[in-house]
Amino acid sequence: MTVKTIALTLLAAGAMAQAQTPASAAKIEYGRYLAEEVGKCQICHSPRTETGQLDKERWMKGAVLDFAPMKPVEGWHKTAPDITSGGRLWERWGEAAMVKFMTTGLTPKGTPSDAPMPAYKLKQEDAEAMVAYLKTLK
Ligand code: HEC
Repeated sequence: MTVKTIALTLLAAGAMAQAQTPASAAKIEYGRYLAEEVGKCQICHSPRTETGQLDKERWMKGAVLDFAPMKPVEGWHKTAPDITSGGRLWERWGEAAMVKFMTTGLTPKGTPSDAPMPAYKLKQEDAEAMVAYLKTLK
């Protein structure tokens, strides 16, 4: 083996090890971007402080909504659940169901969620990144 071959082999091994890591920092950061900047999950799923700011200490820990429809909407939910991995929803659903929900908009029962939860239909890899990010929240 030449030095070059050895170097290339080591590089390839390094790349493979990285690909096998459950969730790389880049994947989690992309998931955070999707959840916070695109999906804006925190608007409904994070409670607010007394001054009306989203509570960083209870990020995505579930909240009572601070808005309501102008006309009655069937099944309207006044609360959004804790979607962190430390919450009861994760315990009940598990990671795979979370990913499936983000790609189909359907719960493990096969039903859509009640309003105002939007039905997101993300690409598989985007849903996986978003769930990898949510997994880092406790
Ligand atoms: C407009 C407000 C709103 C936004 C934005 C929102 N949610 Fe929700 N979400 C809700 C409400 C309300 C519920 C409760 C619905 C129910 O129990 O049927 C809910 C429920 C859920 C559930 C449980 C589903 C169920 O039927 O039990 C998950 C998981 C979830 N949201 C994830 C997310 C994620 C991830 C995002 C961002 C990508 C997000 N939500 C954005 C309001 C929202």
